[in-house]
Amino acid sequence: MQSAGPSPSSSRDKQSFRNGRAVVSASRKGSDVEKDHRRLLESALDRENFDKLMYLENPALHRFVAESIELCKPEAVFVCSDSDEDIRFIRELAIKNGEERPLNIEGHTIHFDGPQDQGRDKAATKYLVPPGVDLGASLNTIDKEEGLAEVQGFLAGAMEGRMMLVRFFSLGPTNSDFSISGVQVTDSAYVAHSEDLLYRSGYEQFKSLGASPDFFRVLHSAGRLENNVSIEIDKRRIYIDLDDETVYSVNTQYAGNTVGFKKLSLRLAIRRAHRERWLAEHMFVMGVHGPDERVTYFTGAYPSACGKTSTAMIPGETIVGDDIAYLRRKHGRVHAVNVESGIFGIIRDVNEKDDPLIWDVLHRPGEVIFSNVLEVNGSPRWLRDGLPEPEKGVNFQGDWHKGKTDSEGDHVPLAHPNSRYTFRLRELENLDLRANDPEGVPVGGIIYGGRDSDTTTPVIQSFTWFHGVVTMGACLESETTAATIGKTGVRAFQPMANLDFVSILLGQYVRSHLEFTAGLEHQPLIFSTNYFLRDADGKFITGMKDKYVWVKWMELRVHGDVDAIHTPVGFIPRYDDLAGLFKRVLDRDYTREEYEKAFTLRIPEYLAKIERMTGVWRDDVPETPDILFDILEEQTERLQEALAKHGEYVSPFVFEAEPPEEE
Ligand code: GTP
Ligand code: MN
Repeated sequence: MQSAGPSPSSSRDKQSFRNGRAVVSASRKGSDVEKDHRRLLESALDRENFDKLMYLENPALHRFVAESIELCKPEAVFVCSDSDEDIRFIRELAIKNGEERPLNIEGHTIHFDGPQDQGRDKAATKYLVPPGVDLGASLNTIDKEEGLAEVQGFLAGAMEGRMMLVRFFSLGPTNSDFSISGVQVTDSAYVAHSEDLLYRSGYEQFKSLGASPDFFRVLHSAGRLENNVSIEIDKRRIYIDLDDETVYSVNTQYAGNTVGFKKLSLRLAIRRAHRERWLAEHMFVMGVHGPDERVTYFTGAYPSACGKTSTAMIPGETIVGDDIAYLRRKHGRVHAVNVESGIFGIIRDVNEKDDPLIWDVLHRPGEVIFSNVLEVNGSPRWLRDGLPEPEKGVNFQGDWHKGKTDSEGDHVPLAHPNSRYTFRLRELENLDLRANDPEGVPVGGIIYGGRDSDTTTPVIQSFTWFHGVVTMGACLESETTAATIGKTGVRAFQPMANLDFVSILLGQYVRSHLEFTAGLEHQPLIFSTNYFLRDADGKFITGMKDKYVWVKWMELRVHGDVDAIHTPVGFIPRYDDLAGLFKRVLDRDYTREEYEKAFTLRIPEYLAKIERMTGVWRDDVPETPDILFDILEEQTERLQEALAKHGEYVSPFVFEAEPPEEE
């Protein structure tokens, strides 16, 4: 069988490629420029790959690939047409070039990122902004010309001696008005392989784009490698050109920095969504199964490492997606799709007992990439996997052994806390039947959640859409985690769990949420959850599985099947309802004491939170809608009133006994 990759004999004529440099001058006609790009591609690609690219009759695509070649100077170019053969070629290339190594189980591979390349690099991720454009102080920006020169400088010649891979994807289900097409150019077969597991194939969808320039572009190079890891970390850059809808990423391999269709494209999508009046969100989408086979769909926004995957994977429920969703108004409701079709999930804590479905996929033949875990004789091991600690193995830092310490004498864990697995959603038996529905799924409720050790209750429903958008979405805070580089455990402002990815003025972003459901016949309810509340001794107050119950309660609320208690900050569950659900769902006796401890209203902490949030939105965010301050002020008044009446910490039973008031 013929190899899908370019064979040495068919590699392009380097001389003519160099001479084919396309010099674009304003006075030249578009068709001449197109011809130049075509000529360049013809000399850089072998016949087979050239034909695959030309099958997509899209001058903007040809130009992007041609310019990428001109800049990065690859040895060869491979265009992936999404045929089985082409997809296999990339999978095998990742192994051949050492970016992935096969593990014992068929289809499983391991990949290491460099020791300094284990999370999203927020500091090096910037928006390229033209002069005169202001995105507000909360966004990391750089002057477009300066930033482009810098990142293109690092990309220049970066693929010399390597193969450039060109892949096409659909963000969202194919043949859907939700979806956006994207092309990724990369020299990392690991990145291209990961994307194969994470996104729906888009080659044919690109064909139907015709000549439209309406697609996302990503150009990535891992840069200089040593032992297959990027080493020029000081030159790591992830720059996003919002106007050209193009992402540049260089000198990094960590998927969060390189798989362009994850958070990098989320940034591009947020801008488009704002223009076209829909929402692009950092949300899971799941079906919660209620009485009489009723399925009610929820989306949930949680910052990285705060529970999206854990929630979307609750046993007994069904998953549509675990990270990024597009939401649109349809048929009088909000509908949502999963942008992705696979999971790039945190593996720490995944164990047989709590995560049977993920555990199963990670232990049977099938395509799985393990990143930054420990390898022990061909088997992957990770932190808190529920098994006895191994004696020794190999991880992203090299040889590891039990009791290993670093130069400061500190304990070296067996794997990185942000190590991950990558697999296709269709491997999961709990995949929702409508996961690929081009119409999306109707959203009954939207959940916001963060890592909050001392303030918000485990689950609560907002009074109204506005109240939820403001107090639960816009005022979401979360303690930092290992998913981003930097100190962990620091409380940070995280509106809609999307702050890192917002690419418009934050004030406009929150306004687009406020207005999103205007005039809809069925508005989703808004909830907030907090899985990370702690007691005075620092112990978690709720159990890992309590969320199984919270989702059931929210499902019942969407249909008005249970009452709730009115508190100054929203509606909380009644003890009796939760006790019944704990018994039915977890076969656990939920005590009044547990309930009271978890749902006691912590008024001083809530007031402090409102003060913090009012300060941030007032001082740091331009164009904050006034209604945000009104809603926070009303909430403060309700809290002050409760404080005067009941003291600082108020039992839910006290609120339950109060006569309901008018909202
Ligand atoms: P990204 O994939 O980075 O966007 O993160 P995510 O939002 O999908 O987070 P994930 O669900 O993978 O959870 C991350 C961490 O939260 C894991 O270490 C879990 O153990 C922990 N976690 C999830 N649920 C709970 C919970 O109910 N209680 C506690 N204490 N920890 C939890
Ligand atoms: Mn996740």
